[in-house]
Amino acid sequence: MPRAGFQAFRLASGRSGLPLGALPEGPPPPAALPAVAMVTAAGRKTAEKGRLMDLTSTVIIPLLFGSLGLFALFRLLQWMRMRTYLQGAVVVVTGATSGLGKECAKAFHAAGARLVLCGRDSEKLKDLAQELSAMTNHRKNLHEPHTVVFDLSDTKTILNAAELILKHSGHVDILINNAGISYRGTIVDTGLDVDKKVMETNYFGPIALTKALLPSMIKRRQGHIVAISSVQGKISIPFRSAYAASKHATQAFFDCLRAEVEQYEIDVTVVSPGYIQTNLSLNAVTADGSRYGVMDKNTAEGQTATEVAQVVLNAVGQKKKEVLVAGLMPSLAVYLRNLFPRLFFNLMATRAKKERKAKDS
Ligand SMILES: NC(=O)c1ccc[n+]([C@@H]2O[C@H](COP(=O)([O-])OP(=O)(O)OC[C@H]3O[C@@H](n4cnc5c(N)ncnc54)[C@H](OP(=O)(O)O)[C@@H]3O)[C@@H](O)[C@H]2O)c1
Repeated sequence: MPRAGFQAFRLASGRSGLPLGALPEGPPPPAALPAVAMVTAAGRKTAEKGRLMDLTSTVIIPLLFGSLGLFALFRLLQWMRMRTYLQGAVVVVTGATSGLGKECAKAFHAAGARLVLCGRDSEKLKDLAQELSAMTNHRKNLHEPHTVVFDLSDTKTILNAAELILKHSGHVDILINNAGISYRGTIVDTGLDVDKKVMETNYFGPIALTKALLPSMIKRRQGHIVAISSVQGKISIPFRSAYAASKHATQAFFDCLRAEVEQYEIDVTVVSPGYIQTNLSLNAVTADGSRYGVMDKNTAEGQTATEVAQVVLNAVGQKKKEVLVAGLMPSLAVYLRNLFPRLFFNLMATRAKKERKAKDS
């Protein structure tokens, strides 16, 4: 074997008497230089690879598994805390006869809450209470729901309802202000009575019920108030003026309330969903006060009420202050409104023109 080849063989096979990658003392013959350099580089690479594998097996993998374990433990503790918080809690749900309210009722019932189902249709409420009671028979830690009938657009009946609730349950742990109606129409054609109707149901009703139940919560230094608002409580979309206004007012009121009642250890959660597959658009009021009666494409393609109810349950269980439950576009629109308002206003004006054109054609 020529000398350079032999040297390279000795170095690569580790038979040089030196550790791999180390150069033999004294300058190698000129012809051997490139081969030695190659072998040295290869040796270094192997050593680096070994070090990397050592690092992976001794640091990265244990760290990864440790973090996963800690995360799983955190979620388990969170879940247990949520279960304890909701088990046996008196939970009042308004608008329990349909859509999101009905699904919230099911989710909180399954979590062991003592439900007070509120609505204006006694038959629908009775049906739901029966449906939930049937589940109660199969599981020990579930409670039979109670029902209270009242109309949120009639402030006087709300005060009576609050009294009835407190009389029956003694106190309220969690109030979910869910009931609401939507609206479709142009501002110029809409009578003030329609604006008032939407505000009564979506804003004055919930705040009247909240005010009626708040003193007993303050007295106990315990309670949780939830407002089901909307993405439209953060951005305003054309032809939804009364609805967007009522939800902006809701957001503002409950943000103020959160700050005011924190000292009494009362929590406030504002949930702002995007589109949900419910009867909201069918039941919306129009400019002349009649029922809209159309299932909008966006509503039909929205999240299911069951999914959103689960988000509400988790938000309450984790005492979140606010949650936006929306897809990419509505969430982007909220950021656009705050960061680039002029662009947002232009987009809304274009949308208004397009919708008007589509309606006229
Ligand atoms: N669906 C969506 O895309 C969407 C998106 C964002 C936010 N939200 C909000 O989610 C909440 C629930 O709406 P939903 O989507 O589940 O619509 P929904 O299926 O139409 O349910 C609305 C509920 O509110 C009740 N309600 C309406 N007016 C009332 C009044 N004057 N007094 C008492 N109860 C009244 C209804 O009772 P009746 O059965 O007697 O009509 C019904 O139980 C609303 O606050 C809504 O603004 C919905």
